[in-house]
Amino acid sequence: MSHDTLPTDNPAVVTCGLPYANGDLHVGHLRTYVVGDAYSRALERVGQQTAFVSGSDMHGTPIVVNAAEEGVDPEEYALEYHEKYAETFPKFNVAFDSYGHTHDETNTELTQSFVESWIDGDHVYEKEIQVGYDPEADQWLPDRFVEGTCPYCGEHARGDECDEGCQRHLEPGEIEDPVSTLTGNPAEYRSRDHRFLRLADFQEYLQGFIDRLEGTDNARNQPREWIEGELEDLCITRDLDWGIDYPGDEDSEADEDADTEEDLVLYVWVDAPIEYVASTKQYTERVGADEYDWEQVWKVDGEERHGTEWDDAWTDDAGEIIHVIGRDIIQHHAVFWPAMLRGAGYAEPRAILAAGFVGIDGKSLSTSRNRAVWAEEYLDTGFHPDLFRYYTISGAGLESDVDFSWDRFAERVNGQLVGNVGNFLYRSLLFAQRNYGGTPDVETSDDVAERIEDAVAEFREAVADYDLRTVADAAVELADYGNEYIQRNEPWNLVDDSPDEAAQVIRDCVQLSKAVAVLMQPVLPEKAQAAWEQLGESGTVEDAHLDAALEAPPAEFDEPEELFAKVEDDEIEALNEDLRDRVEAANEGDDEGDEADDGEGDGEASDQAVDLEPLEDERISFEDFQGIDLRVGEIESAEPIEDSDKLVKLQVDIGHEVRQVVAGIKQLHDVDELPGTRVVLLANMEKAELFGTESNGMVLAAGDEADLLTTHEDSPLGTRVH
Ligand code: 2FM
Ligand code: ZN
Repeated sequence: MSHDTLPTDNPAVVTCGLPYANGDLHVGHLRTYVVGDAYSRALERVGQQTAFVSGSDMHGTPIVVNAAEEGVDPEEYALEYHEKYAETFPKFNVAFDSYGHTHDETNTELTQSFVESWIDGDHVYEKEIQVGYDPEADQWLPDRFVEGTCPYCGEHARGDECDEGCQRHLEPGEIEDPVSTLTGNPAEYRSRDHRFLRLADFQEYLQGFIDRLEGTDNARNQPREWIEGELEDLCITRDLDWGIDYPGDEDSEADEDADTEEDLVLYVWVDAPIEYVASTKQYTERVGADEYDWEQVWKVDGEERHGTEWDDAWTDDAGEIIHVIGRDIIQHHAVFWPAMLRGAGYAEPRAILAAGFVGIDGKSLSTSRNRAVWAEEYLDTGFHPDLFRYYTISGAGLESDVDFSWDRFAERVNGQLVGNVGNFLYRSLLFAQRNYGGTPDVETSDDVAERIEDAVAEFREAVADYDLRTVADAAVELADYGNEYIQRNEPWNLVDDSPDEAAQVIRDCVQLSKAVAVLMQPVLPEKAQAAWEQLGESGTVEDAHLDAALEAPPAEFDEPEELFAKVEDDEIEALNEDLRDRVEAANEGDDEGDEADDGEGDGEASDQAVDLEPLEDERISFEDFQGIDLRVGEIESAEPIEDSDKLVKLQVDIGHEVRQVVAGIKQLHDVDELPGTRVVLLANMEKAELFGTESNGMVLAAGDEADLLTTHEDSPLGTRVH
């Protein structure tokens, strides 16, 4: 079963992951919001009724910890950031239809009703588990109050996620060697009753869901391992007094346990995504259900469904729910959240767009170390917000991890926006105005109309494919075509001798300018509006339909102004210098090894930020994979190959025999250190001769740094890798 192509007749909602109300926003956060905003505008542009919603995430332990450090209560602390965010987003032309927060009444009520539905549906049970406890502080240690070692990958992990290692969600009690972040003492594990959402109830459903899910590949591929394996139930309560109260029966053992029932609140990841629904509901409350009905989006046929009412139904009769998030929270959105929705009788997400991380200089952003470019800082530069939007969206595919760079920002702005789009619009409209007072009175030529139609079709297709980068390209490439067209036809040489031809060329260029304005609106909304006004159009480009790209522009308009200003070298040099100093200081902090206290999952990369190669679309069969003979091996000896900068001759023991292999790892590894290293060897690789040396197999390594693949247990040499 697959979804109808977008746009559909259903209302849509585009949501952005909720920022924790816990610190200033930086370019890493902004990537998600800019993408969400532009995608929601693009969807509207193709005629889909769309609401764009989010809100601040007010709960969770980092907020409790930071508020305590500042001596204020968590609500006051979080509200201050909430208000700050609500003011900052519009400055980047991120225009939510509704921006609420998780502690408001709508979300509190809705969250409790979700939990009650799960309880009614018998999806919640109570279980005694081990929870961290600090005897000196006499306090339970939920989530970020405890740190230790990840049981899955062995990396240092904090609270409920392995943010420095495998990125997995961690359940209470899972962290090994727990230490209290309150006192620095080893934490004790003590028994405590908590409530769990039984995810196993939804396993079969989730397997179907993940096959239907649209959006970026990472959102579909990453969760399969969890959905197809044994699904661990989700602990939905915490020993904390900041959050939304657990609404269950008050006589249960969990409430009678050590503390009072007020101390048991819902886990932050319960009420956070429900804010997507609450915020949509608030939008309906503001504009009226006739204009936008939240129930048509979030419920099937506008109704909640329970138990057998679902039958085999899935949610094609609900709205188009599209989540834009950072890739660190895929598991929450593609596993927990659909189960939560299903268990409460709500519709499922249609698509998840998961953005890669943003880094600087190959390193992850860090709030605590000030290794970041801050939202406020960007605004202070005076660069237009649309420039940031364009740079962020067009610079790389959404799934890629990227580095923020002022140099690349300047390159893209000056190359594409100033030199291409701005230049084309300015020269076309200026020529048109000076010679014809506006749009020459002739029809657009067939060739140009066809080129515009192609661009519009490309735009539509890119929206249906959730490919925002191509959406951005459609306008820029059309301007590129326009520049080439005007240059080739030289209307300035035609006006006197061939006035009809000149009028035709300029008519075409004005039409192209209008089409560029219409197509660039989702990514560059304010600049598109300025172009619209320069064309003498009334109303807003936002309200104009996509077909307006081919409708005649007004006969008269005023002299245009340049749409984009060049980013000057000295501005970039100053910004670079400032950033260099900051990054150096942050890196020194890394070397000193003190712990970062960054906010919970605020989209920061845990590993180096690189441009990842896209995943292969083409699948191979299991039989094909079985044809690949991978073996556990150990390097016996290694010697550099003379005359080669890169190559090393290895003798690798693979149990049956010792293989001679030539590997390109000379510059990346200390050759003397290689003997004794366990590796994975592709044993049935075709033999090759490199620098006169036979290579009989291939050693596997990841990335440009040739990170050698190895095994972690003592599998005998020659063991086949499956
Ligand atoms: O990881 C985070 O930053 C969370 N505040 C995101 C919540 S998104 C949603 F599900 F609520
Ligand atoms: Zn881990």
